[in-house]
Amino acid sequence: MDCLLCSPVLYVFLIFLWYLVRVLLNRCLPFPPGPRGYPIVGNLKLKNQLSHRGLAELAKQYGGLLHLQMGRIHIVAVSTAEMAREILQVQDVVFANRPANVAISYLTYNRADMAFANYGPLWRQMRKICVMKLFSRRRAESWASVREEIDSMVQTLTEQTGLPVNVGELVFALTRNITYRAAFGSFARDGQDEFVKILQEFSKLFGAFDITEFLPWMRWFGNRGFTMRLENARKSLDGFIDRIIDAHIEKKESRQNDDDGLDDDMVDELMAFYSGENGGDLSNDSQSSSLRLTRDNIKALVMDVMFGGTETVASAIEWAMTELLKNPHELRKLQQELADVIGLSRQFHESDLENLPYFRCAMKETLRLHPPIPLLLHEAAADSVVSGYSIPRDSRVMINVYAIGRDESVWTEPNAFKPGRFMDSKAPDFKGSDFEYLPFGSGRRSCPGMQLGLYAMELAVAHMLHSFNWELPEGANSGDLDITDMFGLTAPRATRLIAVPSYRLKCPMVI
Ligand code: HEM
Repeated sequence: MDCLLCSPVLYVFLIFLWYLVRVLLNRCLPFPPGPRGYPIVGNLKLKNQLSHRGLAELAKQYGGLLHLQMGRIHIVAVSTAEMAREILQVQDVVFANRPANVAISYLTYNRADMAFANYGPLWRQMRKICVMKLFSRRRAESWASVREEIDSMVQTLTEQTGLPVNVGELVFALTRNITYRAAFGSFARDGQDEFVKILQEFSKLFGAFDITEFLPWMRWFGNRGFTMRLENARKSLDGFIDRIIDAHIEKKESRQNDDDGLDDDMVDELMAFYSGENGGDLSNDSQSSSLRLTRDNIKALVMDVMFGGTETVASAIEWAMTELLKNPHELRKLQQELADVIGLSRQFHESDLENLPYFRCAMKETLRLHPPIPLLLHEAAADSVVSGYSIPRDSRVMINVYAIGRDESVWTEPNAFKPGRFMDSKAPDFKGSDFEYLPFGSGRRSCPGMQLGLYAMELAVAHMLHSFNWELPEGANSGDLDITDMFGLTAPRATRLIAVPSYRLKCPMVI
């Protein structure tokens, strides 16, 4: 007879026992601290507190790891660097999923994109394509579209010197043009207004409060209006992008062998992985190294680029200009650095950036005070324990980058705009390993467009400061500049910044 120790049954039993003990232990542990809720609805009356500011206020009372029960959904808010490290580094695999409500699932073609796909082989492959093919420095077209659109914005500003300019609208138009051109190239140039309307409706639907998410039984009462809005929004997107994809298919089929692909846009790049109308269900192909994309994947990925690359960069530029106009001594310091390094007889060139340390610190300081995505949304893929508290599977974990960046136990004068703090060689960097400063997130789900986004932000602000002097319109005072933000997918300024440019250089404007 085999000895008992060699029996596989014993090992299976031990593993089962270990698993059972873990589950029971997790169940016995308390949830993180949080306000007491009511039966069934839990803390639903605090739904308006689910913004970066609201959660930062609650964290002052309950601590860096806070629990809210919203109907059936557990929400955990993280507001310290230490807890963020626990979620994004120590237990990153457990927390690498994203939560998605009905609207997000429907509008992303059942999470056929990268931003909302669950962590796994599909997501990994799409991320690889995006990082290597779409956002990489080697894809010169994306970077060229940034330069050309910024040149055209500078031209617009030159024509408006001496007049009040709506800087907010100007930079939103700039980043929309950049992403639109990078995605669709020369296709559908006239369709941009239609596309902007589609994006605006998507944005509203993504952020709409849907009670059935928290109390699923409320579906019995139906919400036909909301469902119809979702259906109409997706139909409009289909109508728009299908035309562009068809045109790309024709282009691909009629391509000559000697086509060097130099004018390829992002849809062209994605078409290289296209599997045909009925082709590869990505999920069946998940283990294969040759990824096949469906039409839905391509549409959803294009929307990721639009949402990921437009509002984030625009709000970063608008906030940088706002903080500089609010702190005129910092504005003068930056302009002095630009004058010392470049002189006033030529335009700014991107190669100047590496010689502008104070300017770059001011961009970092802007992203600390105003991270464009103030709450990182993650979801627990399994039951887990953080800092002795139980976090059940499917909990939504919100990392409050805004609160962490203003934590007074880490930052001196946390609410003040002081770029000089980043001049210290030990100051945190945004690459994701310093958890007290996470404007681009950290770990597996961190921003894949970081380089492209920073490039657009730095180039736009440097051009605006080097070529122009800026003042507030008559009657406005820098001390009164409003720094309230609006909470949605990103956190832009609540009111658009208006300022008056005047030409600063000694050379004529040549673009
Ligand atoms: C200043 C500019 C930008 C900032 C501050 C920013 C910030 C972020 C942050 C905080 C995240 C989530 C990280 C996490 O959950 O841990 C993210 C994700 C993402 N960003 Fe950016 N971003 C910027 C520009 C861009 C650009 C230009 C693109 C594309 C063209 C882009 C595409 C994406 C995508 C697709 C994701 C989802 C990644 C995933 O879930 O795997 N971002 N970004």
